Amino acid sequence: MTTSDPALERAAIACAGARKAVALTGAGISVESGIPPFRGRGGLWEKIDPMKYAHVAAFENDPAEVWKVLFLGISHVLEKARPNAGHQGLWRLEEMGVLQTVITQNVDGLHQQAGHRDVIEFHGTHAFVRCSVCGRRSDWRSVPLEVIPPRCECSGVLRPDVVLFGEMIDPRLLQRSQQLAAGCDVMLVIGTSATVEPAASLPVIAKHSGAFIIEVNPEPTPLTHRISDVTLLGSAGEVMEQMASMVQRLRSNRQPS
Ligand code: APR
Repeated sequence: MTTSDPALERAAIACAGARKAVALTGAGISVESGIPPFRGRGGLWEKIDPMKYAHVAAFENDPAEVWKVLFLGISHVLEKARPNAGHQGLWRLEEMGVLQTVITQNVDGLHQQAGHRDVIEFHGTHAFVRCSVCGRRSDWRSVPLEVIPPRCECSGVLRPDVVLFGEMIDPRLLQRSQQLAAGCDVMLVIGTSATVEPAASLPVIAKHSGAFIIEVNPEPTPLTHRISDVTLLGSAGEVMEQMASMVQRLRSNRQPS
């Protein structure tokens, strides 16, 4: 990917003209922050079986095991992670008034750390835990982890406030995301394999409502050629940095002198 790449230029022109762009992000945007993706080479699901450790039934059956293998493992990686050039490039698009909202499947909080004000955490967040019995929510850092699984004052088992396989997306978040997808003029789809529903349908809704779809991923996905108007094959960090700079140039050239 170079700055003279025609695909990058098409994407940047679409972004520069956008007034209500929305981004849908997945694990790939955080890879350059040291967080492994779920699928593909080096993916978490290559090492552990998601049905054994990331399904709500597995958690209900043996919460201690799911805590030890999945939740503590993820938390260890997230502790050290900081936003990378991909998150920062996306933030620059928000600063320029191009990007309205980030819908993320990630639970790492890195978009908020990068500066975004409106982030929909479609699959929840690892920054909070909630009680599986009374539903009380608290900061992850306030939870004593000497005994696993940790418990709430009501004695219910605590868990990260994330969506496990077999669980529903918060209907309010789903509805708002679908509305944003239907109303955006550009959708940036960054670092997602687009294989997990209902998130995978958001670009389809956007496309059918007339949005221009820009995909950023080093690998093709089920959206490539079918739904995406432009696919930028590269890492989120490299592509978003170049894209943000190009959009900035295009927008400043438009300003009346
Ligand atoms: N930049 C951009 N994309 C990248 C990079 C990178 N540096 N590295 C990898 N990718 C791409 C991969 O090619 C892949 O298409 O990121 C994508 C990651 O896909 P998944 O691991 O499937 O992540 P995601 O799409 O977010 O998964 C959706 O599945 O397991 C559940 O709840 C979990 O939220 C997750 C959901």
